[in-house]
Formats: sequence, structure tokens, C-alpha cells
Amino acid sequence: MNKNINSFEEYKIEYEKSIKNPEEFWEELANNFTWKKKWGKVLSWDFSKPEIKWFEGGKLNIIENCLDRHLETRGEQTAIKWIANNPNEQSRSLSYKELHAEVCKFANVLKNNGAKKGDRICLYMPMVPELAIAVLACARIGAIHSVVFAGFSAKSLSDRINDADCNILITADGGFRGAKITPLKDISDEAMQSTPSIKKCIVFERTKSKISMQIGRDIWWHKEIIKANSDFPAEIMDSEDPLFILYTSGSTGKPKGILHTTAGYMVYAEYSFRNVFQYKEGDVYWCTADIGWITGHSYIVYGPLLAGATTLMFEGVPTYPDAGRFWKIVEENKVNIFYTAPTAIRALEAKGMEFVNPYDLSSLKVLGTVGEPINEDAWRWYDKEIGKENCPIVDTWWQTETGGIMISNLAGITPSKPTFATLPLPGIQPCLVDEKGKEMEGNNVEGRLCIKFPWPSMARTIYGDHQRFKNTYFTAFENKYFTGDGCLRDENGMYRITGRVDDVLIVSGHNLGTAEIESAMDEHENVCETAIVGYPHPIKGNGVYAYIICHNQPEDEERLRKEINDLVTKNVGPIAKADKIQFVSGLPKTRSGKIMRRILRKIAAGESDNLGDISTLLDPSVVDEIKTFVQ
Ligand code: WTA
Repeated sequence: MNKNINSFEEYKIEYEKSIKNPEEFWEELANNFTWKKKWGKVLSWDFSKPEIKWFEGGKLNIIENCLDRHLETRGEQTAIKWIANNPNEQSRSLSYKELHAEVCKFANVLKNNGAKKGDRICLYMPMVPELAIAVLACARIGAIHSVVFAGFSAKSLSDRINDADCNILITADGGFRGAKITPLKDISDEAMQSTPSIKKCIVFERTKSKISMQIGRDIWWHKEIIKANSDFPAEIMDSEDPLFILYTSGSTGKPKGILHTTAGYMVYAEYSFRNVFQYKEGDVYWCTADIGWITGHSYIVYGPLLAGATTLMFEGVPTYPDAGRFWKIVEENKVNIFYTAPTAIRALEAKGMEFVNPYDLSSLKVLGTVGEPINEDAWRWYDKEIGKENCPIVDTWWQTETGGIMISNLAGITPSKPTFATLPLPGIQPCLVDEKGKEMEGNNVEGRLCIKFPWPSMARTIYGDHQRFKNTYFTAFENKYFTGDGCLRDENGMYRITGRVDDVLIVSGHNLGTAEIESAMDEHENVCETAIVGYPHPIKGNGVYAYIICHNQPEDEERLRKEINDLVTKNVGPIAKADKIQFVSGLPKTRSGKIMRRILRKIAAGESDNLGDISTLLDPSVVDEIKTFVQ
């Protein structure tokens, strides 16, 4: 295994080297993997197109690097340990050898059902080991996986399947989450009414729910897998062949299919995993994310397996059967590294110490957070009550588009500071720019966060829409990747993310596009116009606040609120439901017709005394009306 960065001094040296000679730096790391053929050029790039290529000409398969190359040295070691939603259900462990065999078998199932290199395969599954197995099997045959989070609606699922033109859907009869069962196959059936490209639907049996199977199209996982051979030579891929698509919300209603490629993603996922968490041989690592999000891709599946770690996978939710579940799992599995989201920390803090105290958390060495800014209160609670002031907390800033952690302290090695993601990883060159696009030099500055040099795991395009990729990330500031986040750099050069500066809302750590929610609400026959903003929410980070103009004065406001939220559940998913809906007769607009969200945000946050200049509004009187509303 590779050596981790060992001290702050070493970090500084490695960082320097990565900036002065990026190609040499990444080439050295890439040399530690298994290649069928070495690359020619390490990097070629042009942000104006944009075109980014790493390790061009190299041939490999990422799954050989995740599994096959570990078989000799750690074949019997647990690769994935799975914990069921129901605490009384037996957990499952798959050694590297077993996981390898299962992945090969399922690769054969895919092949037997017509899948081949380059196909897009959609996964809509609960958090069971078979989700990881399916992901890895896709990559082994060279198909591009597109995992859709199992909380999304039928409409969101069919939109994503159609956008990527997937030919296979892998799902389950249902999924357990807390006390609920999600009817995944029923939802899939509804989605498949409008997805002509799907030829096969492979169904994993999990809940034994009553479902219907369409002859010729739908097949059972367990019936296929017993016929399959456990030998499957990995498809040989080019470094720049696509590995996966993962959808993320944007500032228009249509989600963006972020596309990642093979070799660069592999090198960066492994490197960042090892160094940020300071993973040591034998550590038990647990990331509580869902594989439906990028965190699950990079830091439940690929990063840990590439590094030969034991990765825990949990099917359930933090509060089931009670708010002590996470800590019970930590105790029972002697978890050493624990990675979760600020929203979960806040939710568990609110439940009280009676759910923490019964458990022995002394196995913990490193704690991590991801997905949104962590407020200082939550940070202190996490540090004191979970880490017992004995575990460094890594606050990891990154994005679906960046593929891996970009700005973070390295656990116990580089300094931490509450609410700060702190310093960039080696190879990452962040900068802050002002509204005119001018780079802000020096410390104690605040601006928009950009990255000015390519890194191996950066997204290469938006599937099927390269122009949108360019417009979204590479046109705001010349020759820079724009993250969409605001950020400040303190007197020591440490970075603190202040939040999104575009129309993306982060709710409980999930990206939601305001436009997506607005267009779902607009479907209601009595809804004329909608404006969505976020407002500070004690648990979710941001709550969803909807201002709605109706065609006709609603007779029963509560009923209308429910109907509108039902539409959001149906079109986007329950995570996007509005926490507050205010009916208004007008919205604050500029003379050119643009909604002034800044004003709506202030009002939603209860700061209506401090609205700033509203003289540019077409009709400033609407603001007075909106302000008087109390829910
Ligand atoms: C936010 C999640 C502050 C940020 C990996 C980013 C954070 C968006 C942090 C990406 C953090 C993520 N501190 N903000 N440590 N991590 N964010 O694509 O606004 O789901 O742009 O990727 O989450 O969300 P995504």
C-alpha cells in the first residue's frame, strides 16, 4: 500500500511538488495501480472547450484495481460489511474474494442479458450489498452505471433513464428504510411506462413485497445469478472511457448527468480516501451516505475498495429504531473512521445524550463531515460527545462534479478549524474571484470559489450536453472551473465555504434545484407562479420556502399546501417538499422581470427589517404584503 502524508511539513512539501510538477506528481501515484498498458501523456487540457484528459492512452479496468489486485494479499479480509435496517436481522460480510466472485457472477448476468461496453445501466436500489455488486459489475463489463437515489419519484427516475438512454434497469421489489418500505418495483413500473429504451429490468428480492413482473422484460436477480459463472475477465478500458453518470440538480429544471471517466477518477478517489481519513491497514471505515449520491460512489465503494479497506454499508436511517442506532453500530463493529453529514449530526444532537451515553465509542479515531457547511455548535457537539475530544474531525468540501474531496484537513496531520474546510489537497489549486472575475490575492478575502488547474477526478462533461457543461462551469470566469459556492480565506489561508451563490439549495445535504421544485408546483391547476428559496433550518441546514401566486384565492389553504407538496413528491421526491408555503398576490421583480430572490431569502429568514435597496423593484409594495405574513 502507498504511504500516507505523515506530518504538516510533509503535506507542505507534497503540495508544493503537486503544483510545480503536477504531471510528475500524479504519474507517480498512478504507477501504483494495475494497468494493462501505461499511458502516453499524463495530462492535456483546455478549459475553454472544455477538454480534460488524464493518462491518455492508458488501458485498465478499475475493478481489477478494486478487487483482483487485492486477492493475493487480502482475499480473506472483509471488503464490505453490511448492516441491515432492522437491528435483529443478521449482518453480512463479504470478503474481497467473495465480493470478487459475486461481481463476476453479476457481470455474467448483465452480459447474458445483452449488456455490453458503453451501454448505460440504471440502478434504482436500496442500500444492500447487491447495489455495490451491481455498480462494480457494470464497471467490470465496461458499462456506464447511473445510480438514481431510491428516494426519487417515478418521474425523476424515468427522466434520468431517458436522458442517458439506459437499456437495463436494476431495482428491487422494495427497500427498507426505518419503519417504511419503499415500493421500488412499483415506482419502477410507473417509470418504465415512459422509458422505451429499457429492454430488461433485473429485480433483486429484498422485502418480499407483492409486485408484478412483466414477462420478457422483468427477471429476478436470484434466478439469474445461480446460472452465472464466477469467472469474468474484466473488459479493457481506456483511461478516458466513461465510468459513470450521476445526476445532480442545476439551476434549470433539468438535472445534469455528470460524467466521470476511469483512470483519473480511480487515482484521485484512492489518494484522497487514504490521506484525508488517514486510513491505516486494518481500520474499519464507515460512511453513512447512500450510494445514490457521489459520497457513496467515491467513499463507500471506489475509494475504500481501491485502498483495500473494510467498508461498512448501512441500509437504514439514523433514527431507527431509535436515535442511538449510529452509535450502536459504531460500538458493535468497532468502527475506527466515521463519515457523515452535518444534518445527521444536528438531528442526533437534538435527540439528546441519552441516545449516545449507552454506547462505547472508544474505537473511533477519525470523524468526518460532508455535504454542507457545518455550524460551530454541531461541530463542537460532534467533537465533544462523539469524538470525546480525541478524534480529529475532517470537514471535507467537494462536489458531484469534483469526484473526490478537494478541500479538507487531513485527519490529525494538518490543522483543523471549526466550520472551515481548511486547506486544499495536493494537486488542487483553489482561488477566489470577485464578481468581475478578478482573482483575489492574499488572505482575509471573500469571493466565489473557483479551481484554476485540472485534477484527475474532475467531471468531463454533462452527458449529452457538453455546451451546458461549458456554460455552467467554465464561462463565468475565464480559464477557471466555477464551483457555484461562495467562500472566504482567513488570515492563515484557510478556506471556509459560505454556501451556494446560485439557484441550488442544499437541504439535509442534498442538492435541490429551485427550478425543479418550482416547475413541479406549477403543475397544480391553481398555481400561477412560484419562487423557491432556502431559509435557515435547525436540522436540515436549509428548509424549502415557497412563495406562491394562485389563480384563484384558495378556499382551503391547508389542503392546497398538501396538494402542492404531493406534486413535489410525485415529480421530484419527498426530500424536496416545501417546509413552508406562503400564498402571495405578487412577487418582488425587477423591471426586467427577474425575481429578486435576495429579498425573498431575507424575508424567509425573518430578516425583513434589513432588505437593503428595493427601489429597483417594479412594484415595491408587494414586499410589504409578503412581510406581514406569519406562519
Ligand atoms: C456543499 C457532495 C460546506 C457545497 C459531496 C457544494 C459543502 C455542494 C461541503 C456539493 C462542506 C459539500 N462544507 N459545503 N464540507 N461539502 N458542500 O454535489 O455547496 O451533493 O457545492 O456533493 O455541497 O454537493 P454534492
